[in-house]
Amino acid sequence: MSAVIKLKNINKHYQMGSQVFKALDDVNIEIEENEYVAIIGPSGSGKSTLMNLLGCLDSPTSGEYYLKNSLVKDMTETELAQQRNKSVGFIFQSFNLLPRVTAHENVMQPLVYRFITASKRKAMALESLKRVGLEDKVNHLSSQLSGGQRQRVAIARALVTKPHILLGDEPTGNLDSKTTKDIMALFDQLHDEGHTIILVTHEQEIADHCQRVIRLVDGKVVNDSRKEVLHV
Ligand SMILES: Nc1ncnc2c1ncn2[C@@H]1O[C@H](COP(=O)(O)OP(=O)(O)O)[C@@H](O)[C@H]1O
Ligand SMILES: [Mg+2]
Repeated sequence: MSAVIKLKNINKHYQMGSQVFKALDDVNIEIEENEYVAIIGPSGSGKSTLMNLLGCLDSPTSGEYYLKNSLVKDMTETELAQQRNKSVGFIFQSFNLLPRVTAHENVMQPLVYRFITASKRKAMALESLKRVGLEDKVNHLSSQLSGGQRQRVAIARALVTKPHILLGDEPTGNLDSKTTKDIMALFDQLHDEGHTIILVTHEQEIADHCQRVIRLVDGKVVNDSRKEVLHV
């Protein structure tokens, strides 16, 4: 098996006056195709910083990040945009939906820069919204949806490009337990379909659900354990 994600000696440092703050401190992680990973750790331990790097939304101060065997820092802007758009789907903690457009339009948004006809884009977005059980809310504006529904729109938007790797930064952060269960069932299904899933969470229940748990403290990986998976 080859790693879809490989981080080698990754540092993310911030200069704070005369001091250097190490948000990520010599992080080494390899993630194989179709792994189901939880990233845990106290607030401020570097989880979001790590996810932003994985999603190519930010770059490290030093170290190497290989995404599907390509060194990210060597990619051109175009290659980077392509990887960002095709390989990784990102579900943000704060949803990041456009407020004054419909669920349908929000989900179509990642397809805008592709050479796809408008009718195909609409069909793909609709399929993605069906997946998260929101087919009856297609024409609702974000402001007309509940927190759980907005989060599902954000997931539909991340899924619409059919990315291999799904990154979720506390994707069930502010949701009730029923919606959390539904969303976890959806992640399970996507995992069964072959996606690689990486979730930041502070909920033990979700971490228990994953097959591998990576724990960060002060920007360092202090624990990385895979569970035995029973093949029956
Ligand atoms: N732009 C920045 N400048 C300085 N410090 C930052 C910046 N971004 C994040 N940090 C610091 O890095 C640490 C890790 O942040 P973050 O990755 O958001 O933590 P987590 O998601 O685990 O709560 C925090 O202490 C935060 O204050
Ligand atoms: Mg965070």
